[in-house]
Amino acid sequence: MAVRVEGQTFYLETKNTLYQMKADHYGVLKHLWYGVKTGQDMEYLLDYPDVGFSGNIYDADRDRAYSQDTMPLEYATEGVGDFRIPAVGVRYENGASALDLRYEGYRIEDGKYAIPGLPAVYAEEYEAQTLEITLKDVVSDIRVVLKYGVLPDFDVITRSAVIVNDGSQTVMVNKAHSLCLDIPYGKWEWIHFHGRHLKERTPERRPLLHGVQQSSSKRGISSHHQNPTVLLCKEGCTETSGTCIGAALMYSGCFQTQIEYDQLNQTRLVMGINTHMFCWELKPGERFYTPEAILSMSSTGFETLSHQFHRVIREHVCRGKYKLIERPVLINNWEATYFDFNEEKLVEIARGAAELGVDMLVMDDGWFGQRDNDDAGLGDWYVNRDKLPGGLESLVAKVNDLGMDFGIWFEPEMISENSDLYRAHPEWVVRIPGRKPVRGRYQLVLDMSRPDVRDYLFDVMSRILNCANIRYVKWDFNRSVSDWYSELLPSGRQKEMPHRFVLGLYDLLERLTQAFPDVLFEGCCGGGGRFDAGVLYYCPQIWCSDDTDAFERTQIQYGTSFFYPISTIGSHVSAVPNHQTGRTTSVKARGVTAMAGTFGYELDLNKLLPEEKAEVKKQIGLFKEYGPLIHNGKYYRLSNPFEDQYAVWEYVSSDAKKVLVQGMIFRTEPNMLRYPIYLRGLDPEKKYRLREDGIIYSGNALMNGGILIPKAWGDYVPVEMYLEAIDG
Ligand code: GLA
Repeated sequence: MAVRVEGQTFYLETKNTLYQMKADHYGVLKHLWYGVKTGQDMEYLLDYPDVGFSGNIYDADRDRAYSQDTMPLEYATEGVGDFRIPAVGVRYENGASALDLRYEGYRIEDGKYAIPGLPAVYAEEYEAQTLEITLKDVVSDIRVVLKYGVLPDFDVITRSAVIVNDGSQTVMVNKAHSLCLDIPYGKWEWIHFHGRHLKERTPERRPLLHGVQQSSSKRGISSHHQNPTVLLCKEGCTETSGTCIGAALMYSGCFQTQIEYDQLNQTRLVMGINTHMFCWELKPGERFYTPEAILSMSSTGFETLSHQFHRVIREHVCRGKYKLIERPVLINNWEATYFDFNEEKLVEIARGAAELGVDMLVMDDGWFGQRDNDDAGLGDWYVNRDKLPGGLESLVAKVNDLGMDFGIWFEPEMISENSDLYRAHPEWVVRIPGRKPVRGRYQLVLDMSRPDVRDYLFDVMSRILNCANIRYVKWDFNRSVSDWYSELLPSGRQKEMPHRFVLGLYDLLERLTQAFPDVLFEGCCGGGGRFDAGVLYYCPQIWCSDDTDAFERTQIQYGTSFFYPISTIGSHVSAVPNHQTGRTTSVKARGVTAMAGTFGYELDLNKLLPEEKAEVKKQIGLFKEYGPLIHNGKYYRLSNPFEDQYAVWEYVSSDAKKVLVQGMIFRTEPNMLRYPIYLRGLDPEKKYRLREDGIIYSGNALMNGGILIPKAWGDYVPVEMYLEAIDG
């Protein structure tokens, strides 16, 4: 049993971890432990000091040592004498905002709970158990149901909360976080992933400062700038040793991760919907569901933690036909043509690609309405006949005749002022009455909280997807959202808008992915501005970054790999000099980097030299062979490309028989120093043959002695070594 209850103490056990909490004699739910299995009730670690200015709940009477300000709590609130960051906050009709939650009961079920309208980890009954703990305010009839999904084999625990109004007055919920985790001891550091457009998910590791630190987004998207994932690690934690805890929020909008290091050197992590522009009116009888947070811990460093997240996201977040099968090798015309294309050009690009083994042509932005540049056409999802005179029917048939599948680009949530849709429905735009809206890339945003907007998008996109043999959709989103306001909401409820926008997005994604189960959906947001586990529930892959430079991608993909599996990372070979950096790298270096993802091309292959075409043909062949190992194997970060002169990573099959090392040496020096790279995850007893030169090594040698990084000539030199066990 994953969930065990002794008295009022709850044990959530996975293969290697234990999560423990207890409702004490006042009914306060205290957090006792999240860590390795101890076989022990961990309450003995709690200490109750009498700390000045840390108040005592009234029922503690003369006991000055009982303070919620100093004890680890399971779901922290306001108005009970805990002055740290709360996980939840409400305001009653009289303006007061205390919430004194006490234990009421629990329920255990086999399987994993779902969350209405929101993405969540899913599992079969035998793979998971759900624990629900109900807490109730001592005065009002507000209840909070804490949900825990325990997936023992994955070392994963999910968290979500439901705020229930069982009373007779309307309350305003002004904070409803998904996760609250108190850690009473230890010197912890945190790692978050920051960046900007073209430079996503740079890991930043810092010791905790006393007070509150946070990473968040107010942009209506999870954002390029900070990612809804966080790592807490003990000082000195490395890839292969030390304790770390990871949390990933399955949410694609404004989020907030806050960490407080308090007066007693205790650490509190809360994570959920951003409180900025959030307030939810909860009428009697209504419930509010928070998004899901996925939690995992490792006592053997980041690598184990990444493996746990990779597995749960690949197998229990991603859905649909494509989640576990090899993805098509794409060619996307964006960097080849930008807006300047027609049927003839696209068919030419497809022909050149088909000859080299590419599986699918993706027609990017510019095929619809009057979309000749980025100042027009969004919202008019019908074919531009000047560019495609025979419509999609003719183009798709020609591409199919070349033996290739066809995919298409949409940016559903957007609208151009110069569009028929805007002329017909200016009221569908997110804007504040009486004010000029903020533009981003010239465009405005559709109010996704409106059912009529979503119905329009469902109909118009379905019409396109039904009119020809379309097998793939790239779902883009190219600006931050501001001017939050919806015509359909009364003034007192405008702060519901950012969350309602995300619920609207999920509703449309759900309807379309269910209606078109054979279509592969790829998420995108100016590259990786919405790279989160929420989108991955609908789209098993996401375009990782608009930066396609191979060197830059080694860093961006390194940061992305801490939480997200390789099969989710959209990655292509593009032209040189690279369009974002002007850097030139070889086709092979670009290929090796793009293989650390879904793999594809983003250039006109007809323009390559004959020897480059031969290299492309070879690398597509290699990807067809290595793809299953890359996507199903375990991924190891063998270097840190932000610190080392090279980026090297490794994939190992589950039986440890196949091993692929790929990477890039950034800069060559004369009389180059020799760098051994130590392989990981091999069978020490097995013998492995290196395909490139036939030399045989023992697993033990490769992991402990290492293998020398090849000598390089020039810069951005690709590394590729394939090893296979020879003795079964
Ligand atoms: C975004 C995407 C690009 C491309 C353009 C088209 O920036 O990330 O890949 O689709 O939009 O406008």
